[in-house]
Amino acid sequence: MHVAEPIVWTSEGVVMIDQRRLPAELVHLTYTDYREVANAIRDMVIRGAPAIGVAAAMGVALGVVRSPARSLAELRAEFPIICSTIAQTRPTAVDLFWAIERMKRRFDEAAATSDIDAVRTAMAAEAQRIHEEKKATDEAIGHFGAALMPENGHVMTQCNAGALATAGIGTALGVIRIAIEQGRKLHVFVPETRPYLQGARLTAWELHEAGIPLTLITDNMVGHFLKTGDVGAVVVGADRIAANGDTANKIGTYQIAVLARENSVPFYVAAPISTLDLTISSGETIPIEQRAATEVTHLHGVRIAPDVHVANPAFDVTPARLIAGIITECGIARPPYVESLTLLARLRASGDVVHPVAR
Ligand code: MRU
Repeated sequence: MHVAEPIVWTSEGVVMIDQRRLPAELVHLTYTDYREVANAIRDMVIRGAPAIGVAAAMGVALGVVRSPARSLAELRAEFPIICSTIAQTRPTAVDLFWAIERMKRRFDEAAATSDIDAVRTAMAAEAQRIHEEKKATDEAIGHFGAALMPENGHVMTQCNAGALATAGIGTALGVIRIAIEQGRKLHVFVPETRPYLQGARLTAWELHEAGIPLTLITDNMVGHFLKTGDVGAVVVGADRIAANGDTANKIGTYQIAVLARENSVPFYVAAPISTLDLTISSGETIPIEQRAATEVTHLHGVRIAPDVHVANPAFDVTPARLIAGIITECGIARPPYVESLTLLARLRASGDVVHPVAR
C-alpha cells in the first residue's frame, strides 16, 4: 500500500510535502532555516498533530545544526529563541510542545558533556529518532485498533489522521490500513471537513493512492450515513486528550460523536501517548486555535459569502462519555479514562512501544 512521506530529514535540509497543494500537485519544499520550518507549521505546509511534533523536532534540530554560534555558550544563548519560535506556531496540538520539551532535554544532556559539534550531531539524531518512533507508534496503534474494526462494511473518519498527519502510517487511517491488511473488507466514509477540506483533499487522496475503497461525503451527510450507511465504527485522530479522556480534534468531530452515539455506532479515538495532556483534567481548558475568516468566506480565492462576522475554530472537544475507547501504542484505554490513560502513560514512560504483534 502506498504511504506518503510528509517530512524527511536530509543533508540538504528538512524536506516536506506541501500539503496545501494536494491533491492537485505533489510538491516538495526544502527548508534550511528553523524560522522557515516554523512558518511551514503555521501555514499548514505540514499539519496533523504527530507530524507537527516531528516537524517541531526537526525545526529545533535544524536551528542547532545551522546555528552561526561559534561556541557552546553562544549556542546556549540562541537555543531558547529557536524553541520559542517553533512553539509559537499552532496552539492546540500538544505533540508540538511534547517534541520541543524532548529536544530541550536532549540539548541539556548533550551540552552538559559534549562540545558544540557533538551537540549538533546529537540534536539531528534525536529529531530523526522521534520520527522513527512515530512510525513504530503508528504501527502499534494500527494493530491494537484493527481488532476493533468490523469484519466488513463501512467505517467513518474525520479530517486527515493518515500518513500525511503523522509521518508514519497514520493513526485513525493506520487502524483502517492494518485492518484491511489483515483481511477485513472495509469501505471508508470520508467527510470533506470544511473549511480546510482535509478530508476531501488529503484523506481522499491518501486512501485512493493506497487503493482503499472510500466514499467522499459532505459534512452535512454524516448523520444520514451514520443512520443508513451500515457504519460499524467511527475512528478519528486527536490533537490533545485531557486526563479525563475529553478529546480535541478537528472541528466537526464532536457532532460526529454525538450522531454516532445516537445511532449506536462505536466512536474511537486513535492517538499516541504523546497526544495525552495529563496536566489538564478536562477538555474545558484545551486552547482552541481560531483561524482566518477567509477560510470560511472564500474557496480557492473566490468569495462564497458576504463580508459578515465569521467564526472559524479549528478544533472542537468531544466529551469522554461519547468515546468508546482511546487506541494508543500501549493498548486501548477504556472508561474511566482518568485511570486507564494514566496507566498507559506510565507503561509508555517505562519502556518502548508495546507492539501487539510482538507480544
Ligand atoms: O488543522 P490540522 O489539519 O492540523 O488538524 C488535524 C487534525 O485535527 C487531525 O485529526 C489530528 O491532528 C490527528 S492527526 C493524526
